[in-house]
Amino acid sequence: MIHNRTGKKAANCVTPCPMTHSLTLRRPDDWHLHLRDGAMLSGVLPETARHFARAIIMPNLVPPVVTGAQAAAYRDRILAALPDGMAFEPLMTLYLTEDTDPADVAAAHASGLVKAVKLYPAGATTNSASGVSDFDKVRGVLEKMADIGLPLCVHGEVTDPAVDIFDREAVFIDRVLDPVRRATPGLRVVMEHITTADGVAYVQAHDRDLGATITTHHLIINRNHILVGGIKPHYYCLPVAKRETHRLALRAAATSGDKRFFLGTDSAPHTDPNKESACGCAGCFTATNTMSILAHVFEDEGALDRLEGFTSLNGPAFYRLPANAATITLTKGDAVAYPAKIHTGDGDVTVFDPGFALHWQVLPG
Ligand code: DOR
Ligand code: ZN
Repeated sequence: MIHNRTGKKAANCVTPCPMTHSLTLRRPDDWHLHLRDGAMLSGVLPETARHFARAIIMPNLVPPVVTGAQAAAYRDRILAALPDGMAFEPLMTLYLTEDTDPADVAAAHASGLVKAVKLYPAGATTNSASGVSDFDKVRGVLEKMADIGLPLCVHGEVTDPAVDIFDREAVFIDRVLDPVRRATPGLRVVMEHITTADGVAYVQAHDRDLGATITTHHLIINRNHILVGGIKPHYYCLPVAKRETHRLALRAAATSGDKRFFLGTDSAPHTDPNKESACGCAGCFTATNTMSILAHVFEDEGALDRLEGFTSLNGPAFYRLPANAATITLTKGDAVAYPAKIHTGDGDVTVFDPGFALHWQVLPG
């Protein structure tokens, strides 16, 4: 619900409503999150748990989270790292390999532990070496997942060195995603962190069994932000940000109210030395200021009334989970102060800088 300065419900405002300064939403969830392990996990977990009730936890640890037993142990480590007084539910995933056992996947799902399986094409991104090269080898697992309704979260980029990095998502849709979906009717797929108008169009063209997450940072940056005026390692992520037309397509999709699109931040912490290096790691760390940035984006697009759908309703609907009963309130005021870096036991992690002041703040509590 949106309120203006007089406290009156502002639903009838001509958008954008200049008076809007308070916004109460169902507590959001993050449908794509990297928490890592050990000291990094302890350092970054509060940044997410402060605002988000649940998150789909990526399994690309070293070694990856492949079996149900490993996912259970990782879940325990996450809960043990949660500071006293914070509530947070990790929704666990399994890392799909060519050796994944369909029976183990089914058992981990049946027990309620595992909410999705993650497909990394081998070599596509951070810690993806154990991912899939030969899709025939995972056919049995995908068929089992279609049977039991367990979603497949897809990192949608081909790894063919002949394909330009800026084309890898669009080529993946044609060469891999569409054939896999046709070969496995009923398979429920989330296209993770889409970065192109092609990804948006593919989702829009399919009414069943398909959704997509959109990150915070891909709503803000295009490829110029990474490369113009000096290379900006903290804007480098995978899939890499594309040209401006694609960013605008993502903003239109995220703010459209279409239930097939929902928030997955892909907040991916790496220490500063690992980012600011001759071979810098991919990942933007947005957990800290995501809700402030999203409120800014949705306000800019005259769509503040659709923010709750994107952050708090569409994701649970896709995953067949209830929306959170609790709420958060954001208020708009003077520029919000947030830390430039999060200090972890592994080293500092730079918080994503949207490049403009943020005025929406999540109230504590
Ligand atoms: O930018 C990214 N960082 N993209 C991914 O797919 C993986 C992630 C990570 O784990 O650092
Ligand atoms: Zn990711």
